[in-house]
Amino acid sequence: MNETPGFFRLDDVKRGEALEIKVDGKAIPAFAGETVATALLAAGLLSCQSHDDRALGVFCNIGQCCSCLMTIDGVSGVRACQTLVSPGLVVESRRLQKRGSRP
Ligand code: FES
Repeated sequence: MNETPGFFRLDDVKRGEALEIKVDGKAIPAFAGETVATALLAAGLLSCQSHDDRALGVFCNIGQCCSCLMTIDGVSGVRACQTLVSPGLVVESRRLQKRGSRP
């Protein structure tokens, strides 16, 4: 079982092949067949994007909101809850600022 407080994986569930994805430069474990959002939550990573100082994470987990938008393999605005993991997938959280506050 995952040691992250508040999160767990069921030991007796058959999973796809173990692999790693990179999230903000950090390797985290995942399993083929699960979504990026699942891997994030299992790793205890709750923030997908931030607007100013407010963080947004997985909310609906069914592709109906925009809380989990991330940059995935260089494509910005991709829903983490609708994207399956693959070996070496590169995921970046998004940091957005109010219009006009950029340099
Ligand atoms: S969590 Fe709502 S679209 Fe992904």
